[in-house]
Amino acid sequence: MSTLLRVDSSPILQSSVSRQLTEEFVQKWKARHPDGRVISRDLNQTHLAPVTGEWIAAAHTPEEQRSSEQKQALELSDTLIAELQAADEYAIGLPMHNFSVPSTAKLWIDLVARPGKTFIYADGRAKGLLAHKKATFIIASGGTYGAGTAYASFNFVEPYVRAFFAFLGVTDAASINVGGTTVLNYGQVNREAFLQPYIEAVAAQISAS
Ligand SMILES: Cc1cc2nc3c(=O)[nH]c(=O)nc-3n(C[C@H](O)[C@H](O)[C@H](O)COP(=O)(O)O)c2cc1C
Repeated sequence: MSTLLRVDSSPILQSSVSRQLTEEFVQKWKARHPDGRVISRDLNQTHLAPVTGEWIAAAHTPEEQRSSEQKQALELSDTLIAELQAADEYAIGLPMHNFSVPSTAKLWIDLVARPGKTFIYADGRAKGLLAHKKATFIIASGGTYGAGTAYASFNFVEPYVRAFFAFLGVTDAASINVGGTTVLNYGQVNREAFLQPYIEAVAAQISAS
């Protein structure tokens, strides 16, 4: 049985482009995997806090030596990591916020990067521990950042998440970039027509897997 982990990070609940496309991904994935299981993690419905000195000390303390406070400090991180471990495939919705990922997504990233759990250092080199996973990043941005465009170098979302997931061992990764969503806010284009190519890209991504 396959498992999909869907992650949403847009604070916009009703008209979010990335949420619409992660939902599309889930529906199409379910049609292809009728017996599959979907885990949904909404980072805007999760109480995420920045890591503290206590959290870092707990993460670096061997599991069998952790105090009950330290175990408690790592509880959410353990849960979020278990979701990544349980899934074979990830669909991760990411709006661009100030050229990077939203702060909720960064807090999640900080909680799932755990020495000994999602990566280790062996022979002086980092090794990711999330093996045989496949990720699709669905990135929505108001502007456009494709290769050759004036602001291409301002896109820190896709290179960042690709590098981060590769660090954790997830090198089988694809990205669907929905650029120029600002036009949707001004009613200049028909939303359905605007999103159609990206809905098709989601379908192509699932049939390729
Ligand atoms: C706080 C905030 C910061 C944003 N920063 C950028 C940005 O740096 N570059 C950009 O192209 N669009 C930016 N946008 C626009 C969003 O990327 C765009 O609306 C996108 O569709 C958001 O995805 P969503 O619809 O899934 O929320 C920003 C929007 C918000 C709310």
